[in-house]
Amino acid sequence: MYSPAATRYDAPSFYRRCGRSGVRLPLISLGLWHNFGAQDDYANARAIACRAFDLGVTHFDLANNYGPPDGAAETTFGRILREDLAAWRDELIISTKAGYYMWPGPYGEWGSRKYLLASLDQSLKRMGLAYVDIFYSHRPDPDTPLEETMGALAHAVRSGKALYAGISNYPAAETVRAAKILRDLGTPCLIHQPRYSMLDRWVEPQLLATLAAEGIGGIVFSPLAKGLLTDRYFKGIPADSRAGHDQRFLRPADITEALLAKTKQLNDLALARGQTLAQLALAWVLRQPAVTSALIGASRVSQLEDCVGATRQLSFTGEELARIEQILAG
Ligand SMILES: NC(=O)c1ccc[n+]([C@@H]2O[C@H](COP(=O)([O-])OP(=O)(O)OC[C@H]3O[C@@H](n4cnc5c(N)ncnc54)[C@H](OP(=O)(O)O)[C@@H]3O)[C@@H](O)[C@H]2O)c1
Repeated sequence: MYSPAATRYDAPSFYRRCGRSGVRLPLISLGLWHNFGAQDDYANARAIACRAFDLGVTHFDLANNYGPPDGAAETTFGRILREDLAAWRDELIISTKAGYYMWPGPYGEWGSRKYLLASLDQSLKRMGLAYVDIFYSHRPDPDTPLEETMGALAHAVRSGKALYAGISNYPAAETVRAAKILRDLGTPCLIHQPRYSMLDRWVEPQLLATLAAEGIGGIVFSPLAKGLLTDRYFKGIPADSRAGHDQRFLRPADITEALLAKTKQLNDLALARGQTLAQLALAWVLRQPAVTSALIGASRVSQLEDCVGATRQLSFTGEELARIEQILAG
């Protein structure tokens, strides 16, 4: 029988306010995209989730299609909730999303009201929840009016099936439009979930400033570039790594000599700061005031612990930041 650590809220600075809202999120949040599927070891998945909560990680991020197969991560998390975490439901921020392909026919993906609301009902059923804390539009839909997609999010909130609305992968201009529609509907956009890491900086020119101006929190996904910004691949491709066993989203060909030359230099800098490379990469995204939380994945408890340890050293000197730019520029 799981009992959470009494020390889990000992570090108040581990939480940052999410935009102009009443919600504070942990600096490190746990995503269940990988390692919580039907073929993954349940005991390991459970251990990661419970250890996260012990460390003050109150936010668990899901989507309808996380698995594999689609939906399996929500089913796994539903079991963890039922068997271990349900008693602490009011201490948890649980999110899910709809936007990518889920079922055949015209109503199984993208941004229609029909798809979003049906998918949310399915997600709640898989997790055994009455509501999620955040319901996201997972990606912008070029063919559906934004009013319809945002209207569906607002309806989810008003119906009590979600507490807050969020958007993911929306460029800056669409974010401004979506924020206005949601504000006008009385259900402001709580949060935006874009990809951001030292290796993918598309949010920097516009989106981060847009989030700050709109009062929307930012939770950035794949801050470790799916494992590339860690020491995982320094000695080849381990069989149990993402590139080693699940090549749908990270291929061995992505791990080039040029990339390793950079990440090894970043690793030296991290060590000089008393950090691991993963910790350096997380502190680096969290240096942005518009970033509320870094949304990581973990295949084992030790990785999660390492990532949470990033928050012990978040500040950078000007020289360190300049050195990072120099290394990244190659
Ligand atoms: N909104 C969207 O469109 C979208 C898209 C993608 C992801 N997401 C969200 O973002 C979450 C995180 O994505 P991600 O898994 O790609 O994030 P990530 O944190 O960039 O990569 C996680 C992977 O890095 C490795 N790792 C983590 N900590 C480590 C450490 N301390 N030392 C060494 N290696 C470490 C592990 O790889 P191994 O598995 O190889 O051990 C782990 O699976 C997802 O679960 C999901 O919730 C959202």
